[in-house]
Amino acid sequence: MGKINAAITGVHGWVPEYRLTNDELATMVDTSDEWIMQRIGIRERRILKEKDMGSSYMGARAVKGLLEKTETSPEEVDLIIATTVTADMAFPANANIIADLVGLKNSWGYDINAACSGFIFTLQTAVQYIESGRYKKVIVVGSDKMSAITDYTDRTTCPLFGDAAAAVLLEPTTEDVGIIDHIFGVDGSGRHYLHQKAGGSARPASHKTVDAKEHFIFQEGQAVFKFAVTKMADVSVEMMKKHNLTSKDLAWLVPHQANMRIILATAKRMGLEREKVMINIERYGNTTTATIPLCLWEWENQLRKGDNIILAAFGGGFTWGSVYIKWAYDGKK
Ligand code: UT7
Repeated sequence: MGKINAAITGVHGWVPEYRLTNDELATMVDTSDEWIMQRIGIRERRILKEKDMGSSYMGARAVKGLLEKTETSPEEVDLIIATTVTADMAFPANANIIADLVGLKNSWGYDINAACSGFIFTLQTAVQYIESGRYKKVIVVGSDKMSAITDYTDRTTCPLFGDAAAAVLLEPTTEDVGIIDHIFGVDGSGRHYLHQKAGGSARPASHKTVDAKEHFIFQEGQAVFKFAVTKMADVSVEMMKKHNLTSKDLAWLVPHQANMRIILATAKRMGLEREKVMINIERYGNTTTATIPLCLWEWENQLRKGDNIILAAFGGGFTWGSVYIKWAYDGKK
């Protein structure tokens, strides 16, 4: 028997209805549509307004839609791996909650946290289970309710983030398609530039941490920007070189959507025209673990079997990486 590859055989996304526009943000902090569009490239982001609902609520909706469109019964799923930085609770994992909400009765699961690289790190983890030959249907779901940890009095972070979820189904194939390769890195010394200070075991929640706003995203934007531009481009170009891919050979770049300037700088280093880059940052902002599968979902109709695709991400930690995929099916499922 030929080598077993792991292929994405379906993708589905879910976004909340509420649109937080730049104009509405400008009533909350000293900012403007012009500044946000110029420096970040975001016009609006979705916000989950449902009371007491967290990221698993959105993740479950994405997974439910994925099962329906791929005609997969919940009992068939062997494993679900969730990725998030805004889990409903410190424990149990979002994967448990989503499995319960969707009825994955024969599945086990767990969460992975790699900040904005969460989706690609989790995808690659899922690939190992499929390639081992033991697993037939594995779901990877990224869901983040970034509005839960965003300080809407801080103009340097509040325009950046939004809420969303998206999921993919992975199945085995012996055809020459699927997830081909990955190049990943972490540098923990970067943790100081982008993190949530309190709420973990080092600084448990207290009146003091709440008063000091330490449960919100902290970011030194410029430092993160410099690393993100370099690393995302380096790792994508490295992947192209490793597989002798020219910009002509590539059908798509699917970049993490943190800042339009980072996306365009990465595409430029790869020699890719803008038409080959999936960009939806303008409508959703940075949804952390959901950005990449959300793009795949929105562009699914245009994808063709055999398309060479590079996924690229950079995030808190620091974490970064690229994944090389040969797409496994034509158009929308
Ligand atoms: O997904 C995880 C990885 N995260 C990232 O990749 C994010 C990386 N960083 C960034 O995207 C950018 O650094 C930001 C978008 C966060 C900020 O853009 P910047 O071009 O680096 O701006 P800056 O921080 O250098 O600020 C420039 C000026 C400052 O004013 P002064 O000191 O020059 O007077 C800021 O106070 O812009 C000001 N500013 C704003 N003005 C209007 C900062 N935020 C705003 C705002 N509206 N929202």
